[in-house]
Amino acid sequence: MNILITGVTKGIGLALTKEFVRRGDRVFGVARTLSRLKDLEKKYSQSFIPLNYDISLEENIDKIFKYLEENSIKIDILINNAGIGALGKFQDISLADNQRVINLNILSLVNMAHKFLNYKKYDKFTGIINISSTGAFQVGGPYFATYYGTKSFVSSFTNSLITENPQTKEKDFRIMGVYPGPTSTEFVGMKDEKSFYIMDSQKVASIIIDDFFKGKDICIPGVFNKFLVILGKFIPRKLELKLLEKIQLKKIKKI
Ligand SMILES: NC(=O)c1ccc[n+]([C@@H]2O[C@H](COP(=O)([O-])OP(=O)(O)OC[C@H]3O[C@@H](n4cnc5c(N)ncnc54)[C@H](OP(=O)(O)O)[C@@H]3O)[C@@H](O)[C@H]2O)c1
Repeated sequence: MNILITGVTKGIGLALTKEFVRRGDRVFGVARTLSRLKDLEKKYSQSFIPLNYDISLEENIDKIFKYLEENSIKIDILINNAGIGALGKFQDISLADNQRVINLNILSLVNMAHKFLNYKKYDKFTGIINISSTGAFQVGGPYFATYYGTKSFVSSFTNSLITENPQTKEKDFRIMGVYPGPTSTEFVGMKDEKSFYIMDSQKVASIIIDDFFKGKDICIPGVFNKFLVILGKFIPRKLELKLLEKIQLKKIKKI
């Protein structure tokens, strides 16, 4: 299969790339850091095609699909993984940085999904995996406000696409939302974090792929994260916000 993944140079995107290549699939990997893309190309040769683009710019998404079209490349699965966050009190983070989070986590994801679903070079089987966060199940995210807002958007948007694109005789649509909890990556506030509940990115990637091919439309990697999502339904709103505030303030102090 041909898999188009955004954000392949680090973290969950890199782990997904390794896992798909190991399965014998071919990854078209998008990211901004050319040196890391070149390393992946060297390591995986024909199985990895680097696409060196900043997808927060719409014209770059056009270029990606133009390249695929011109080379008659059929993409089976799109994984919208690239995402960023900005930790801090909302008004103390520059407007530009808040906008960067919204541009990548929402606008680019919507653009990629729209271009992909209108792209003719896929067969009967089409898949989209959108990476949200367990934060989308929570009532908010003090000191990570814009990020949490974007992940709630991804959840709502993905659930709508799942319903709008049912499986038909002509097309096997599989759209899945992924809700990772804390995962050991270079993501803001996560670098060097160590705790029993922080998951390994490679483990997260293998759960995502397993769940997707089992036909699930929601993937919450890890038993502890599933438990927290359920527990969250029973915690009063203000208490939940206070707990989340504490967690984010602790992260800010460490940065
Ligand atoms: N880690 C966690 O605890 C956690 C928890 C819940 C959800 N998530 C979600 O999981 C996804 C992956 O996160 P991660 O932890 O793996 O993050 P990460 O380690 O920071 O990796 C992010 C990836 O996105 C790429 N990227 C960033 N901006 C980009 C842009 N403008 N254009 C193209 N690529 C871009 C980065 O590559 P370049 O810098 O080379 O462009 C990198 O490969 C995100 O959507 C995040 O919100 C993470």
